[in-house]
Amino acid sequence: MKMFTDMKILIDPKGRKYIFKGEDMHTKDGMIKADEINNCDVGGTVKTHMGTEYAVIHPNITDIMQKARRGPQAITLKDASLIVGYANLHFGSKVLNSGTGSGILDIFLAHIVYPEKVISYEIRDDFAKIAGKNFERFGIDNVEIKMKNIYEGIDEENLDAVILDLPEPWLVIPHAVKKLKIGGILISFSPSIEQSKKFHDALNINFLQETYECVLRDWDMKVVRPCSRMIAHTGFITVARLISRNKEVKKSEEEQKDVKESEEEKEDVKESEEEKKDVKSENRDEQTDIKSENNEAQTDVEKENDEAQTDIESENKEV
Ligand SMILES: C[S@@+](CC[C@H](N)C(=O)[O-])C[C@H]1O[C@@H](n2cnc3c(N)ncnc32)[C@H](O)[C@@H]1O
Repeated sequence: MKMFTDMKILIDPKGRKYIFKGEDMHTKDGMIKADEINNCDVGGTVKTHMGTEYAVIHPNITDIMQKARRGPQAITLKDASLIVGYANLHFGSKVLNSGTGSGILDIFLAHIVYPEKVISYEIRDDFAKIAGKNFERFGIDNVEIKMKNIYEGIDEENLDAVILDLPEPWLVIPHAVKKLKIGGILISFSPSIEQSKKFHDALNINFLQETYECVLRDWDMKVVRPCSRMIAHTGFITVARLISRNKEVKKSEEEQKDVKESEEEKEDVKESEEEKKDVKSENRDEQTDIKSENNEAQTDVEKENDEAQTDIESENKEV
């Protein structure tokens, strides 16, 4: 199979790139014969029939990621680069990626871990076909696509990294805990912060974890200011490093202790509130007694006053 590193790419005077597919090329500046390109060494130039010169070089991995066919939303170079860096990937790393999508991330991963094979899980045949064609076109022969739902489990053992770009990454955590090496990295790329938060919350104390927003700002160096147009948002990555496999039980014990303590605290609060209520109602009763005693005393005094008044009035009448 012809590797992309043996292929040729043509660059026009404006810096636009064209992958040479082995046939005559029809460009904006005219036609270039396939024979002419085949006979031109990299570093040389070919001319269109209208006389415009195109440079000839080998494509690199960024050209291949740009030129690959796309099905579902594909990863960008900046996101893929952060993933590779934080996943600590290198020559020979054992990595599982899911979902495959158009295979753009797989192409990048395969380039990094070569000659090791990238394992890529996908559930949709149509996307797997697009990815397969991309691998074939660019001579990527170290990716194995498996038609498998990763939420149901991982077959491979002793993985250096598990990389996720799919809707419910948190469902993969229990499988990754079993199949990653200690020190291995689980990375999830998500376009939405809600997904990242849910993934973060589902990670347990077996993992050290960090979340980053993937931002890259282009600058227009002619005017020395940021470009007016840029890809403003792609997503977030959460990087989780497996530091232990057996803290699950300990955690659940600790959680149970926490729950017990918080229940006891709640009980204490309830008791003290009830005590307060009792004191209040006792006070209220006492208050009522005092009031009714006062009322009775008042009535007696008033009665006595009335009687005295009547006596005086009758005495006066007699006088
Ligand atoms: C955003 S795309 C991935 C794009 C890929 N990173 C790329 O660069 O081309 C998400 C993919 O995950 C696949 N997928 C979704 N749920 C899955 C699951 N449970 N197991 C495997 N693949 C899944 C989808 O079919 C889709 O192809």
